[in-house]
Amino acid sequence: MQMVDKKIEEYCIAKSNLPSADCDRIEDYTRANVHGSQMLIGKMEASFIGFLLRSISAKRVLELGTFTGYSALTMAENIPEDGEIFTVDINESTVALAKEFWSKSQHGHKIKSLLGNGLDIIPTLKAPFDFVFIDADKRNYIDYLKLTVPMLSPRGIIVIDNALWSGRVVPGTELSGSDLHDRNTEFIRLVNDYIASEPTLYGTLLPIRDGMFLVTKKI
Ligand SMILES: C[S@@+](CC[C@H](N)C(=O)[O-])C[C@H]1O[C@@H](n2cnc3c(N)ncnc32)[C@H](O)[C@@H]1O
Repeated sequence: MQMVDKKIEEYCIAKSNLPSADCDRIEDYTRANVHGSQMLIGKMEASFIGFLLRSISAKRVLELGTFTGYSALTMAENIPEDGEIFTVDINESTVALAKEFWSKSQHGHKIKSLLGNGLDIIPTLKAPFDFVFIDADKRNYIDYLKLTVPMLSPRGIIVIDNALWSGRVVPGTELSGSDLHDRNTEFIRLVNDYIASEPTLYGTLLPIRDGMFLVTKKI
């Protein structure tokens, strides 16, 4: 489901700072050759995440869901030379592709790939993180959030991707009715409801691409 008119989105993309040609190469290759390429965050979301990273001067970033390395490289381009992106994925073959692309970028050295299940890897990591991007394994979204909130630096931000799940999470819509058997809808509703009801968190759910839930700790 396209939430913003395509022409309007194209105009926004044309006027925004965007990921480099190295990232475009990952995007183009993935869209042409890799199954599940619709999972890529794409230019608009990447530009917005880049803005967030710059606005908080993020240095340490945790990503859940590397895939072919597009979002990790777009983030690496928006943190300083001594910044680090830790990115977790269980899929060896897409991670191998990602590493090949990163090795051709001047920002690739900032990315540390961690192969394995997010739930096993997160507890082994050293806090704090300035930015956490949750984009893997919807079933465990709620656990990823609960595990990473205590690891956030004071002004840190967590972004939960696909928080609108093509609009299916919205009760009473045609989409929500037709997708009652989609378990992911339930998992995403669970995390959205948790954020909305948790008094220690400040959340903003935005209709960018497939929905981005921005979360920070109230201080
Ligand atoms: C939506 S894609 C990530 C897209 C990527 N962030 C981008 O935009 O370039 C989700 C990824 O999560 C990975 N994944 C699924 N279950 C996982 C788990 N339990 N732990 C870690 N990664 C997982 C998949 O292998 C897949 O590559």
